[in-house]
Amino acid sequence: MSVPADRFFHVIDPRTFDRQLLDELCEITSRVRTLAKSPEGARLLQMLLPDRRAMLYFTQPSTRTFLSFNNACHVLGIRTSEIRDPAISSEVKGESFADSIRTFSSYVDVIVMRTPEPGRAAEAARLMDMIPRPVPIINAGSGQDQHPTQALLDIYTLERSLEGRGGIDGKVIGLMGDLRRGRTVRSLCHLMRNYADVRLVFIAPESFAMEDDIKEYLWVHGIPFTETIDLASTLPELDAIYVTRMQSEWDTEGESARVDLGRFSIGPAQLSLMKPDAIIMHPLPRGGEIDPAVDHDPRAVYWRQERNGMWMRVAILLKIFRRDDQLLSLDLGDFTAPGETVA
Ligand code: NCD
Repeated sequence: MSVPADRFFHVIDPRTFDRQLLDELCEITSRVRTLAKSPEGARLLQMLLPDRRAMLYFTQPSTRTFLSFNNACHVLGIRTSEIRDPAISSEVKGESFADSIRTFSSYVDVIVMRTPEPGRAAEAARLMDMIPRPVPIINAGSGQDQHPTQALLDIYTLERSLEGRGGIDGKVIGLMGDLRRGRTVRSLCHLMRNYADVRLVFIAPESFAMEDDIKEYLWVHGIPFTETIDLASTLPELDAIYVTRMQSEWDTEGESARVDLGRFSIGPAQLSLMKPDAIIMHPLPRGGEIDPAVDHDPRAVYWRQERNGMWMRVAILLKIFRRDDQLLSLDLGDFTAPGETVA
């Protein structure tokens, strides 16, 4: 059995996502959030996918992505099993990656996977497409190259936080930090193709500047961008700044420590330079690049962004298993307390 190309099945490469899919996922996410607020809505969500099982195969450290996928599954009644340490899987006995993935697929209906190597999720998806009972593969972070579900939750957070100003279209978005090795910013840049008149500003130390393949992608798709090391003069023009940490786990010779990150950080002084309605995002975890004092500023949306991750992952699972129609046809008025709206 092969998977029809028009189906949202594997979630691997953000370059394949179009605006319609992004808008649908955002709409489903908002509906899920509304439903989850009431006991009746939460029960209804629980009944959407109790017939499915998921495998969480995370062989690279993860807190948020693991927990949000795990809990997204549970929100929908999906049962989960997990491997978080390759030392306890049969790979230590010499089983090939292909055989391991095929084995997982024998027991579950979806595999969510994070690996330190790039391209592994794509490899698993290709494998699935060659076997009689393929299951969807969701890339939950593949080395330094892609993190598509993070980019989806980032899009949702941007769209909803900028809703009163027309959403992402027409906005100036800064991406700051270790852009060379950060997979979240790479995936987010790919999704920007779907929005009109967006301008990107890369704010990074020269040694951690955005890679050429992403710049080339932006050129090809007509997305203007600039590069700078000067945060202070850039901040006043930004509608959103997406801050990232130094990805020091990829250091080969202590290169992170040679950079003065203080110049690429947000604290009270930087807040005073920002537009009153700009937003500050971060995929988390953070190092010192956002002062905790910033958490109390209404422009700081990263904790909401983190929670949105769980709701967006619920939406992704619903879409993969084609149970989203059920949700989209519901009258949410039946589940919302009078006067309540979803922020
Ligand atoms: C990101 C990752 O793993 O790439 N974390 C996450 O999934 N929220 C960002 C990071 O680790 O810096």
